[in-house]
Order: sequence, then C-alpha cells, then structure tokens
Amino acid sequence: MVDHSIDNVSLDGKTSSRESGGVSIGSKGITIQRLALHNFRNHIATVLEMDARPVCLFGANGAGKTNLLEAVSMLGPGKGLRAASLPSLIRTEAGCAVAGGWAISARMDDCGLDRQISVGLDVSAEGRTRRVAKLDDAAVSQTDLAELIRVVWLTPAMDRVFAGPAGDRRKFYDRQVLAHTPAHGGASAVYEKAMRERNALFERGRADPSWLDALEDRLAQSGAAIAVNRVSAMERIQAAIDARPEGHFPKADISISGKFEEMAFRGDSLQEIEVAIRDTLKAGRGRDSVAGRTLTGVHRSDLVVVHRPKQLPASQCSTGEQKALLMGLILANAKALLEGDFAPNPLLLLDEAAAHLDSVRRAALYDELAALGGQAWLTGTDAGLFDAFGSRAQRFCVENGKVSKV
Ligand SMILES: Nc1ncnc2c1ncn2[C@@H]1O[C@H](COP(=O)(O)OP(=O)(O)O)[C@@H](O)[C@H]1O
Ligand SMILES: [Mg+2]
Repeated sequence: MVDHSIDNVSLDGKTSSRESGGVSIGSKGITIQRLALHNFRNHIATVLEMDARPVCLFGANGAGKTNLLEAVSMLGPGKGLRAASLPSLIRTEAGCAVAGGWAISARMDDCGLDRQISVGLDVSAEGRTRRVAKLDDAAVSQTDLAELIRVVWLTPAMDRVFAGPAGDRRKFYDRQVLAHTPAHGGASAVYEKAMRERNALFERGRADPSWLDALEDRLAQSGAAIAVNRVSAMERIQAAIDARPEGHFPKADISISGKFEEMAFRGDSLQEIEVAIRDTLKAGRGRDSVAGRTLTGVHRSDLVVVHRPKQLPASQCSTGEQKALLMGLILANAKALLEGDFAPNPLLLLDEAAAHLDSVRRAALYDELAALGGQAWLTGTDAGLFDAFGSRAQRFCVENGKVSKV
C-alpha cells in the first residue's frame, strides 16, 4: 500500500538542509542510534541504543528478536519483513489488541545530523485507524520514507524462494528494486490497481472499450517503469556480484524473464516499452476476456538465478547451496546500494542467517558485514554464534519482549 496523501514534501536525497515548505534529507551515512518500540508485537516499551557497528540480537525462540527486525523494516516503505497487516502488529494481551495502536521511533545519524523517524498505527477510542509516518515531526509519505530508508532483508521464510512460485520470487526481487528506486513502490501500486480494475471488467463480462483504453494506458505507463526499474537494479546487482571476491558465497547470474524487461535490457526506451505493453494488452483483450484476467504483462515476469560455478538453475541446487546463493545475492545488493551515490546506506536485516553457516562461512560473513558500511542487524539463539565478530559488533540479549545491552 502506498500513501500519496502528502505531496508537499520535497526529498532530493542529497542535501542536508531544510527547505521551506518541506523537508530535505541527507545522503549516505545513515545509521540507527536509538530504536524505541511501543506496543509493537510482544514489545511493550523497548528501547535500544546503538552505534554504527553490526547489531547482534540473541535470545530464545519466541523472545522477540524477529519482531525487532520487523520493527526496523517498518521504518521503510510497505508492509515490512513479514508482510503483516498493520493492525496485527498491535501488541495483544490475552488475545486482545491493547488500546491506542503501536509506534516505532528511530533516531538516525544522517551524516552527523540527527534525524527522527516515527511510524505507527494510531487507533482512536472509536476504533478508527490512522497510519502515522513522520520525519522530524513533519508528516511524510511512504515514498518519502523509501527515499530515506533503504532496507534489505534475508529471513528463513525466503529459503525456498528459488524453488517456490514465481510470484514469491517477483515479490522478493521487487523488494530489492524498491531499495534502489523508491518510485518502484508507487508504480507497482498503480499497476496492480489498474490490473484489478481491468480484470474486474472482464469478469463482469461487459468491458467498455474506452474504459479499457484508459486502464491499459495506466498499465502501459506503470508497467514500462516497472520493467525499466527491474532491469536497472539487475544491472547494478549483477555488477556487484561480479565484483565480489570468489569465496564462501557462490556467485549468481541473474536475469529477468519477461518480454518487457527483455526490451529494457536490450536498451529500448521507456516509451517503446510503453507502446509495446499497450499494443499487447489491446491485442490480448479477447483472450483475457475469456480467461477473466490479464495474461501478459510485468506481473508475469520471473527472476532467473543461475549458480555460476555449477552452471545450474538455482531451483535445482541443494537447499544449502540455495541459501548460500541467496546470501551472496543479498550481500551484493547491499554493496550495490552502498556504491551508488544515489542512495543512503542500506540497513541490512539478517534473520537467523548465522545459525546454518559453518564456522568458516560465518567468519567470512562477519568480516564482510563489519567492513560493509551499512548497518547490519542479525539474530540468533545463542550469543556464541556472534563470537567471530569480536569487538566489531554490539550485542543485545532479547528475553520475553525485553532487551538488554550486553
Ligand atoms: N501482536 C502481538 N502481540 C503480542 N505478542 C505477539 C504479537 N505478535 C507476535 N507475538 C509474539 O512474539 C513472539 C515471537 O517473536 P519473534 O520476534 O518472532 O521471536 P524470535 O525471538 O524467535 O525471533 C511470539 O511469542 C508471539 O506470540
Ligand atoms: Mg525469529
């Protein structure tokens, strides 16, 4: 869900000065210094203070570690790391949501400047809900949050992304793209809405051609932007993969299968892709009307990942190899985001990523994270999992929704 309700905010992502009538944010060196959760999942009132080093959260299953990563992910645009609905994040007691909603606030260091982000869901006494997003006390939109917070994550739920349905892979990949191109979220929202409306017209069996024209215009414009965004992120990620040292996480060759992404990859312009989508939709009306849905478009594209050393599709690799590929891909994306001078440093959330690695790989991962420059957040059940970091990381013990610094 993308909120375009506040558009008087100008964010150029480069400067650090305030501008009249809006807020402009700083650029590269973003780290969270203080994170506060209020009635978020099993956290009643949790506060963590940290520096720029990797943040290691350890504690028993169910303690509230993933909930903390989820809270960080909510600072960015969209639904966050579990794709949960906003009301489901309200802390429950004996099965009932507590009054008032939830809130997360973060003090960020933005190139030496203090910035305060607050997000949350307010629930009034009458039960009305209101999403809140503020930067330094000024209301901001989802797109503005996307400009400021670039966040990528790896969770155990993503382990089977290469072997699972194309839709999951697309969602996974679009999340990576969003970190590169904040406008990707808006384009996706426009595309999905127009497609739902087009499908509904076919389902009702009386599609007015001029109404179809209008919807297909919207699909063509947003679809072309989506294809171009996906391909430009792919090129950056592939370059970052290629630049990675040979080592513990195998390199991947990535591409996107989809007619319109292939056009973008060949260098066709946005306008050419737009025309191609419009023509394809128009020519496909008969077929789509029989099917009751839109059969071609960027919503059918797929991310194709090949294990380079083995020259094997990722889906055919062993579970361990798939995990290692995925880790390499996420690390490469974090690096790609860091290297572009277009974006703030990414926050990298790695949920339970260390536990399944052997000690050599784990040490290699920590070396990479310590050198990365973006703030990394990791979880694990035992403090000992993070020993190889030495003093290069900070540690917090999570216990029953409470956090203490170690
Ligand atoms: N809305 C909620 N209100 C209260 N507790 C919740 C809510 N949602 C999840 N939880 C609790 O949070 C705990 C899981 O937290 P999680 O962060 O996933 O644990 P872990 O430390 O294993 O990563 C579970 O005990 C779950 O019941
Ligand atoms: Mg967890």
